[in-house]
Amino acid sequence: MSLKDGQLSVSGREFNLAPAKTLLTRALSRSDPFYTPPRPPVFFGREDTVQYLVKVLMGEDSVPFEHEYDHVALMGAAGTGKSSLAKAIINEQAIVSAFHARLFIAYDDVGPSAMTYQLFLDRIANALRVAPANSNTIFERLKNLPALLVIDNAEIFGQAGKEDAAKISLMIDTLMMQPITRIVLISRNIKDCLNHAGFAFCMLGGIPDIS
Ligand SMILES: Nc1ncnc2c1ncn2[C@@H]1O[C@H](COP(=O)(O)OP(=O)(O)O)[C@@H](O)[C@H]1O
Ligand SMILES: [Mg+2]
Repeated sequence: MSLKDGQLSVSGREFNLAPAKTLLTRALSRSDPFYTPPRPPVFFGREDTVQYLVKVLMGEDSVPFEHEYDHVALMGAAGTGKSSLAKAIINEQAIVSAFHARLFIAYDDVGPSAMTYQLFLDRIANALRVAPANSNTIFERLKNLPALLVIDNAEIFGQAGKEDAAKISLMIDTLMMQPITRIVLISRNIKDCLNHAGFAFCMLGGIPDIS
């Protein structure tokens, strides 16, 4: 088997891959450029919380972006269902209609000593498909893009160096001030969320019982 100039040769037979490439390119350019994880397949017992938080993010009267601060802080110990709840929220129809970009930005794989301000920016820029990754490119993109940013595992931000941790905190504040950006900040550490003005707080206990 060999591939040369778009010609695939298998056991002496020739296949022209050019049409397939054109079709694939067209399909990709049509698809939504942003990735949103699906609603968890197993998710029960939190419908009231989902509806309440959707209301907060949309503004009391379900008109998005009319209020200055409609952000959500999800807090609770590990395994209480914070990430799952956020994934359920970003797949609600009202949210899908209001926010062109629904991004889930996680830092759960970052070791304590690896957390930096640049890594914080890298993941947001990557989710928004902007480069280079800096605050200017991110804010420029968010100017005209109704975006809901879920920022997960914020407890790790406190492990960054003092200066980096302060810059991350300031960046979160500034993201919260963007007129058509809404933030869901998720942390095991309540302090991370209390540091910022403008959140509706939601504290989660254990996973709901199926009964
Ligand atoms: N509402 C729910 N119904 C059923 N299972 C859930 C629910 N929320 C979370 N889980 C399950 O509980 C576990 C922990 O959930 P997760 O969202 O990862 O918690 P956290 O982000 O708080 O650590 C996962 O296995 C998840 O599938
Ligand atoms: Mg989680």
